[in-house]
Amino acid sequence: MSENVSETKTIELPSTMTVRDLAESIEASPIDVIKVLMTNGVMANINQLIDFDTAAIVAAEMGFEASLQMVEQLEASDAGEVPLWRRLIASEDEKDLQPRPPVVTILGHVDHGKTTLLDAIRESNVQAGEVGGITQHISAYQVKHNDRLITFLDTPGHAAFTAMRSRGAQGADVVILVVAADDGVMPQTKEALAHAKAAKVPMIVAMTKIDKSNANADHVKQQLADEGLIPDEWDGDTIVVPVSGTEKIGIEDLLEAILLVADNTEILANDDGTIIGTVIEAERDKSRGTVASLLVQNGTLNVGDVVLAGTSHGKLRAMFDFYGEKIESAGPSTPVQVMGLNSVPDAGELFRTVDSEKDARAIVAEREDDMKEAQKKQSSVMTLESMFDRYQAGEVRELRLIVKADVQGSLEPIVSSLQEISASDVEGQINVNVLHAGTGNIVESDMLLAASSQAIVMGFNVTADSAAHKLAEKEHISIRHYDIIYRLIEDVEKALKGMLEPEERETVIGHAQVRAIFKISRYGKIAGCRVTDGEIRRNARMRVIRNKEVIHDGEISSLKHEKDDVRDVREGFECGINLKEFDDIQEGDVLEAYVKELVAVA
Ligand code: GTP
Ligand code: MG
Repeated sequence: MSENVSETKTIELPSTMTVRDLAESIEASPIDVIKVLMTNGVMANINQLIDFDTAAIVAAEMGFEASLQMVEQLEASDAGEVPLWRRLIASEDEKDLQPRPPVVTILGHVDHGKTTLLDAIRESNVQAGEVGGITQHISAYQVKHNDRLITFLDTPGHAAFTAMRSRGAQGADVVILVVAADDGVMPQTKEALAHAKAAKVPMIVAMTKIDKSNANADHVKQQLADEGLIPDEWDGDTIVVPVSGTEKIGIEDLLEAILLVADNTEILANDDGTIIGTVIEAERDKSRGTVASLLVQNGTLNVGDVVLAGTSHGKLRAMFDFYGEKIESAGPSTPVQVMGLNSVPDAGELFRTVDSEKDARAIVAEREDDMKEAQKKQSSVMTLESMFDRYQAGEVRELRLIVKADVQGSLEPIVSSLQEISASDVEGQINVNVLHAGTGNIVESDMLLAASSQAIVMGFNVTADSAAHKLAEKEHISIRHYDIIYRLIEDVEKALKGMLEPEERETVIGHAQVRAIFKISRYGKIAGCRVTDGEIRRNARMRVIRNKEVIHDGEISSLKHEKDDVRDVREGFECGINLKEFDDIQEGDVLEAYVKELVAVA
């Protein structure tokens, strides 16, 4: 190192700080800092907030080269696919990194035994006396195996995927995919698999309920192989551990497998580094205020630290471990409960610490402004049209798709054609990645996966249910409907070449329930309907949905209210509808009206 270089000291500063904090960081007296500010035309008192650029000038005059704190640099840069906390750890000096306990998330189909398995793991590892200490449901805990800690995160077990689940995989080092030996691979097993794949997290299969008389391990292994998870005993690389949560069979093996997988991946953090982690869950407690479960992922969190998570912030008044015991500090991979945040942060939100509550408020104000800006300009919405431009701008690396079709017979040719496009490598670079393919309507869980992985949803002869629609609107997810396979494939091909014409975007405008059928010789069948939401327009297109399946898609030939031909009928009103080229309408059918509009390329 030359002498000149060693004279300037480098320092990391946040985007905003008080004069006092700056003075402390550069080991100068606040008076001197204020003097330098004055000579630069800034009148500031000791508690005033100054921004990074101003602070950097002061620091420079005092012999420091300032750079923006790494965590803020990372926050400002493109989120990409790698979670911020991982990028932060990657930015740490290698020599400062130490191994940390692996974080394990359990995913799987409803009732397949996730909670029972977690309980079995916990009971076999926790002293009886300690169990009594657990007073409430906890969603995160640690166990010790072979003297090594493992952190487990339970995920809510509702039928629908929750946002937490998709984020749960984001925070995990290892995913345990639970499949019941008596039930096999089910829809949510596949969804869980898609989430884990999207998050690029290594996976172990726990085949639960192995004690049951109707357990069929070979069948399940075959199903897993069909999903691309070839069991290790078949020379694949997926570890499949047969277990029983109720009989406590295979628990040790599972823990061994977790440590084995963990040893194959770098599971590191810097105990003394920047403090960052993820909000596991949070709620408002009447007597304790906001109580949040946090998973520390880097650095060591202390009582008294000022935590910032999204727009929620506060000084930590108290911290508890998963037994509910008061603790003062918590290092990487430790789940803790904290009190002191001013509002309830979202589950899955990242948290970090800042120097003071004043800084926190300044950053929150900025974030709120950014959020408003982002809402105004939705150009970052992932659409098939914008795909190519965003690829060229380096914002995305592949085209991610979620494909839903009415029947397996259509799904297979669609997916294999998409994979062929991928293999033929259009333009030599952009990859098509089908994150999830399944039969049935587009549902909320599809949209959650799309939102968390910037994917586009493509439906073939299916419709999106109302929860999915709501989420699509809120998260600005593009759903594309098709009824001809080659059109779907063609659009994807065009998108990869940046040649897709303006999108014909579909908007569902209303639904009507068929309550009676009238036969009129001149028209054929007229459906007597009630508009249940939105409106039906004469010039709209109409899907006929029976037992949640789309059985027809076409035009309206007449729309009547009482005896008159009308242009539209609104929610709550009755109407008579006659469809073009469809005479099989039945009582109980649901009619979905939609319009197609040309939307310019974003
Ligand atoms: P959700 O959280 O609702 O998705 O369910 P889960 O996956 O957490 O399943 P849970 O652990 O609640 O188990 C569902 C049912 O299966 C319960 O009645 C359990 O007693 C039973 N069960 C779970 N594991 C086993 C097992 O290994 N063997 C047997 N025989 N039954 C089991
Ligand atoms: Mg459960």
